[in-house]
Amino acid sequence: MSFRNSLRVRGVIGTLHLGFLRLFNFSGTPPHILSRMLDLRRYDCKHNVETAGLIELDQLGIDSSSKAYGTRYGGATPWLFKDSLDQIPIDHKNYTFIDIGSGKGAALFQASDYPFKQIIGVEFAQALHEVALRNIANFRSKTQRCKNITAICGDAAVYKYPTGPWVLFFNSPFGVPIWKLVAENIARSARGDQKSYLIYMNYGWAPEAAEFVEGLSFLKLIYRGDTTNIFEFVP
Ligand SMILES: C[S@@+](CC[C@H](N)C(=O)[O-])C[C@H]1O[C@@H](n2cnc3c(N)ncnc32)[C@H](O)[C@@H]1O
Repeated sequence: MSFRNSLRVRGVIGTLHLGFLRLFNFSGTPPHILSRMLDLRRYDCKHNVETAGLIELDQLGIDSSSKAYGTRYGGATPWLFKDSLDQIPIDHKNYTFIDIGSGKGAALFQASDYPFKQIIGVEFAQALHEVALRNIANFRSKTQRCKNITAICGDAAVYKYPTGPWVLFFNSPFGVPIWKLVAENIARSARGDQKSYLIYMNYGWAPEAAEFVEGLSFLKLIYRGDTTNIFEFVP
């Protein structure tokens, strides 16, 4: 992000704070991840939730064979998320937004700025799911337009999708073995007469999964961004 954009998005204090952390290479964390962590921390303070931070799945006591293919927890970056959702030309009130691998709920809250019919998060780590439930109870926002937010604790591989149309959101949650099951499940549940969308946010944590999604026959790429690809469903 350019210096000018950083000022616009983070303000003077946020930009100086990030510059300081970069200068001293804080904990060896790559600068773009550091910068996103700070953006999310600011979001959390503003909205009375706790979604920031990176957590490895090994720290979460997950009891599922899918864990071996999961990436890690890291919440969606608010400005990247908004840039993506703004690319999708829909009447939100007809659509259900579903975040597959929803963690502490960051994307659910960011999606609530749009007037979706409902917003659902599916997360297999019980510890993260409990934080998401707490966050749903505590979330405060003057720009919220959807209040129907539900968090479900379960495995993406066997999730039963509600009636569409959907905007499905995947923020680099897992690798190809789980994607194969998830893609079959989606294809079985999708109805051809409803135009659904899929957003794939690629944090570089499962590069082969990003390629796999691009190759799915029921999806057509409609937008390619720096980190995000958006697809529409084709019959
Ligand atoms: C990078 S985080 C994204 C969090 C959230 N989508 C967001 O953008 O704020 C990926 C999440 O996917 C979850 N995950 C990984 N494999 C999963 C699976 N098989 N079923 C459900 N959740 C899974 C992880 O526990 C983690 O919380």
